[in-house]
Amino acid sequence: MKIGIIGLGYVGLPLGLAFAEEGHDVVGLDADPRKVDALRAGESYIEDVSSESLAAVAQKLAATTHYEDLAECDAVIICVPTPLTQAREPDLTHLIDAATSLSGVLQRGQLVSLESTTYPGTTRERLRPILEESGLAAGRDFHLAFSPERIDPGRTDFTVRTTPKVVGGLTEACTERAAALYGEICDEIVRVSGPEPAELTKLLENIFRSVNIALVNELAQLCERLDIDAWEVIEAAATKPFGFMRFDPGPGMGGHCLPIDPFYLAFKAREHDFYPEFVELAGKINQNQPLWCVTRIEHALNDVGKAVKGSKVLILGVSYKAGVGDIRESPALKIIRLSRELGAEISYHDPYVAELPELDLRSAPLEDELASSDLVCIVTAHAEIDYERVVAEAPLVLDFRGVTRGLKAENLVRL
Ligand SMILES: NC(=O)c1ccc[n+]([C@@H]2O[C@H](COP(=O)([O-])OP(=O)(O)OC[C@H]3O[C@@H](n4cnc5c(N)ncnc54)[C@H](O)[C@@H]3O)[C@@H](O)[C@H]2O)c1
Repeated sequence: MKIGIIGLGYVGLPLGLAFAEEGHDVVGLDADPRKVDALRAGESYIEDVSSESLAAVAQKLAATTHYEDLAECDAVIICVPTPLTQAREPDLTHLIDAATSLSGVLQRGQLVSLESTTYPGTTRERLRPILEESGLAAGRDFHLAFSPERIDPGRTDFTVRTTPKVVGGLTEACTERAAALYGEICDEIVRVSGPEPAELTKLLENIFRSVNIALVNELAQLCERLDIDAWEVIEAAATKPFGFMRFDPGPGMGGHCLPIDPFYLAFKAREHDFYPEFVELAGKINQNQPLWCVTRIEHALNDVGKAVKGSKVLILGVSYKAGVGDIRESPALKIIRLSRELGAEISYHDPYVAELPELDLRSAPLEDELASSDLVCIVTAHAEIDYERVVAEAPLVLDFRGVTRGLKAENLVRL
């Protein structure tokens, strides 16, 4: 098959690679010419995709910025971002732009599959009419489906092949066509009755995480008041072999999905005069978690007789999760901004993030910063860091990830 991928980011690039590795011809399209140039030069810009794996499929994976190159594809998969507007409402501009360009080159017999996370109804109500501006009818002249992406950047125990893939087409034939496509790279296909259940499945998965993370974040706040170690409680609860699923508290939720997806559902719900309070409460607790972390910074410094103002605070890890360089919605950014507002002198170290231009910061070498900081905050716990050494060398350590759990030291405070 010849498969087009629109949007070569965290989702699109690994997907394109998976098809190319199965021997299919892949045309990867991105609006960002720098990404296209990098791929043409054989350079990956995504941690989970090595440049060696790209080199191995160099003949099978072409990169382009031209939509005309998609005209010869059997299937086109859309993986563009679905962020929020300033007013925290769904921003479908990337999707609408991509769909408009695609409709200009859409061919009879093609399959179009949307993978971007979005609210139920997007495929049918927003994507379909734009594609039909081509003069072709969805479900008759071309196939249309939604298949949510489940990639978890940095995860190695589950791959594209071993993660079941949910597909829901506009018609049964659309579903079967999409199932056949994804069956090339996934062992298990889960068919649902249409695009809407498939769209909502993805939102449920992420909201499930958001709600449970909010629960343990709130528990951590309560534990501070009760002077109980939240980690000890969570670890003990996690020994229950049934009816409990472990989630860990932290400095807040980041990334392109968890902080954003609940707003997509809330938006759709409001259209139907329904207010999903559970979902919104979880979002509120998680969004406020970095503020609470800043209070913890104030208290930790206060306990050693220091004010935030003028103190040197080193933030350890600024990406939104361990093992990746993605800083979208990262709670570290909020913690840095709020601490700066209180007068802290901030530096950071992150092996995955060389600079934060918006905050005018560059990753500082750990060895220079540890002893000279008043406080080191572990915000994102990358595996490469030796936390025992951090606790041994820094005057004061505040651990928001529980990564120092095995250690006991006078200068160590945990969330
Ligand atoms: N990152 C994840 O872990 C993850 C997991 C599951 C689902 N998703 C969802 O998948 C979608 C994509 O996320 P991502 O993390 O890959 O985003 P990303 O920003 O890493 O990649 C998206 C790419 O699309 C390109 N693009 C934007 N508009 C375009 C257009 N009109 N035409 C062509 N290319 C265009 C961008 O240049 C970018 O390279 C989102 O809806 C996201 O919610 C992401």
